[in-house]
Amino acid sequence: MSAGHILVTGASGQLGQTLVRLWERSPIPQYQFSALPRTQLDIGKPDLAAAVLSELQPTVIVNAAAYTQVDKAETDRDAVFQVNETGTATLARWAAHSGAKLLHISTDFVFNGAKSSPYVPDDQTEPLGVYGASKLAGEKALLAASNNNAAIIRTSWLYSRYGNNFVKTMLRLMAESDALSVVEDQIGSPTSTDSLARLIFAMIQKRDYQGIYHWTDGGSISWFEFAQQIQGQALQAGILSKAIPITPITTSEYPTPAKRPAYSVLDRSRALEEFECLVLDWEQKLAEVIAELT
Ligand SMILES: NC(=O)c1ccc[n+]([C@@H]2O[C@H](COP(=O)([O-])OP(=O)(O)OC[C@H]3O[C@@H](n4cnc5c(N)ncnc54)[C@H](OP(=O)(O)O)[C@@H]3O)[C@@H](O)[C@H]2O)c1
Repeated sequence: MSAGHILVTGASGQLGQTLVRLWERSPIPQYQFSALPRTQLDIGKPDLAAAVLSELQPTVIVNAAAYTQVDKAETDRDAVFQVNETGTATLARWAAHSGAKLLHISTDFVFNGAKSSPYVPDDQTEPLGVYGASKLAGEKALLAASNNNAAIIRTSWLYSRYGNNFVKTMLRLMAESDALSVVEDQIGSPTSTDSLARLIFAMIQKRDYQGIYHWTDGGSISWFEFAQQIQGQALQAGILSKAIPITPITTSEYPTPAKRPAYSVLDRSRALEEFECLVLDWEQKLAEVIAELT
């Protein structure tokens, strides 16, 4: 007998594709699995989305769909909130109504970055931009609609072999340019979508989760240090043939439309205590992705 039906939203995104790959390599026994891209399940269209859910009848929804373009979000407020707030609320209401569980992904951008020690899940939130505000609104909508059947996983600095992310951008620029400048006064923790996907599978298997968790690959580094590590590993793996100079710069020297938290290290101890999954440090997870890109 089937133990349940897992449905992943946002299947074409970095996390969505990673969840599909993990399922193909190590499926959770007794579960059915579906993963739908936006073209088949648009969470920003409440009636259509609810109809798709009612048709599929998932027992566990993993929401990997989101409007994630942080800078574009500053001038696209309605569209961002439609996905990140209304879309999340739609999933949460359907899940609460039908008795399904919901695992939702959120972000370090719900914090203002003024702390200097890792953020715990119940630390005060204060997003600095539209994207962070929309993700926080999604969290609140989820918590209001769910009847203890849902969990939020906040993560940071996601990367993978898929889609667009800092690691792939750095590798491209390092191959194309003679020198690079990278921000050194924003501190956070990189997270491979693979380790996040493994946590999600561990949570599904345990079945017992509720409220807010934090998840990263550990570390407390700047984008500059991350870039240095990427270059070092890529040279060793033979993806890059020559080292280029990388200069540390300040956020004010690299202005972006959206303000970002200066410090957003997340304390993941609650997740580590409650779920069993293999934990590798951020350098090891980076090496895995670099190896996949060779
Ligand atoms: N990337 C990061 O650094 C980071 C950091 C912290 C937290 N997060 C969170 O982690 C989660 C996964 O991020 P990611 O990096 O995998 O993002 P991603 O690669 O941008 O993927 C997001 C996916 O959501 C889809 N989507 C957008 N609007 C949708 C809608 N209305 N209905 C259904 N699908 C929709 C996109 O579809 P299209 O492919 O059609 O555009 C895309 O495939 C998100 O919740 C994000 O907020 C990300």
